[in-house]
Amino acid sequence: MEPPTLALNPLMLEIIGETGFSYLEVARRLQREGKRVISFGIGQPDYATPRHIREAAKRALDEGFTGYTETRGIPELREAIAWYLNSRFKADVDAEEVIVTPGAKTAIYMAIAAYTRPGDEVIIPEPSYYAYSQVVKLSGGRPVFVPMRFEPGEGFTIDVEDVEGAVTERTRMIVINNPHNPTGAVLGSSVIEPLMDLARRRGIIVVSDEIYDNFVYEGGEFRSVISYPDWRENVVYINGFSKTFSMTGWRLGYLVVRREVVPRFVDLAVTLYSCPPSIAQKAGVEALRGDWEPVRAMIREFEERGKLLSEILGEAGDLVESYRPKGAFYMFPRVAKVLRRAGIRVEEYVKRLLHEHGVLVLPGTSFPDTAGSTHVRLSFATSRENIVEGARIIVEASRKMAGS
Ligand SMILES: Cc1ncc(COP(=O)(O)O)c(C=O)c1O
Repeated sequence: MEPPTLALNPLMLEIIGETGFSYLEVARRLQREGKRVISFGIGQPDYATPRHIREAAKRALDEGFTGYTETRGIPELREAIAWYLNSRFKADVDAEEVIVTPGAKTAIYMAIAAYTRPGDEVIIPEPSYYAYSQVVKLSGGRPVFVPMRFEPGEGFTIDVEDVEGAVTERTRMIVINNPHNPTGAVLGSSVIEPLMDLARRRGIIVVSDEIYDNFVYEGGEFRSVISYPDWRENVVYINGFSKTFSMTGWRLGYLVVRREVVPRFVDLAVTLYSCPPSIAQKAGVEALRGDWEPVRAMIREFEERGKLLSEILGEAGDLVESYRPKGAFYMFPRVAKVLRRAGIRVEEYVKRLLHEHGVLVLPGTSFPDTAGSTHVRLSFATSRENIVEGARIIVEASRKMAGS
């Protein structure tokens, strides 16, 4: 008989991890062996957390602010978050509607698990950040992937009619991510408005992960779902500090939900993690209330890097169908022609780039179903020198693999 410790809940067997992390491990191993690897793999800013934020954390440490805090987060931070959302998006969020979490990932888990019942369908525009569908599956629900539209030279967008076509009487939720990982798409009112309208008409919850809300570039029109006065009807809002303030290791994110369900979410939160990290919370207050200039400078730099990357990859013509990302720090170009000519799958293309040419990109299939099977993801959270050199290598390697 199978030992009971091997007999996992079958839903656990459905879960996949973040492939990005496993590719990074391979790249690190190659680097340890002395090989040079230019990485477009990682989804975190290559900047240190701004100094004034680090100083606030040091003060918290020196003051001995090291114990458990309120499960939902310290009032100072919840007030700062509500203030940020209200001043930025003309929203009307109350600090009592904010729940601080250890990273946006925990917020994703809580938002999806709290509403998904066994058999529920959850619509996820695809490609997508892999975590959403894992939580849906673990909750006994069914992810329903709706491919985003790709326009060469333009990038990606959501066609709300495609979403509507996927709605059934079992549809419980739509999960959106705006600005978007992995495509760098930014959804404006022309998409968000009809999407919200559809969700309201059909009684569907909209979970919106807006962790890249500050990474919006020229040509990107961004509309936050929290800006709708009636958001309480059907919105669960997610954001975090990892990207905007280069605070990936601090583990700080948040959820906004209507007041009536907050006690249930807090019960889930205390069960999962007791409270978010105390020191990180003090740092979070400083991040929101303090000087934003370092963030603005970083985002200006990212905009330039996105342009640079699309220009250089553009030299490969239709072998690498690049575009200028309007947000986040990712591009998701199509490499279908190289794959077809070389007779390989995208995972093999990525492997060859890494092992034969020393450049790491992620296969589109990490995001996480089939919509990305002829695309790769590049993160431009890396130096301009790396972008220039790495992108040239990709152009050359793609020509070689395509035999042109
Ligand atoms: C869309 C999206 N949501 C959430 C996260 C996770 O953020 P956190 O570090 O706050 O858990 C990421 C990280 O890559 C992301 O890309």
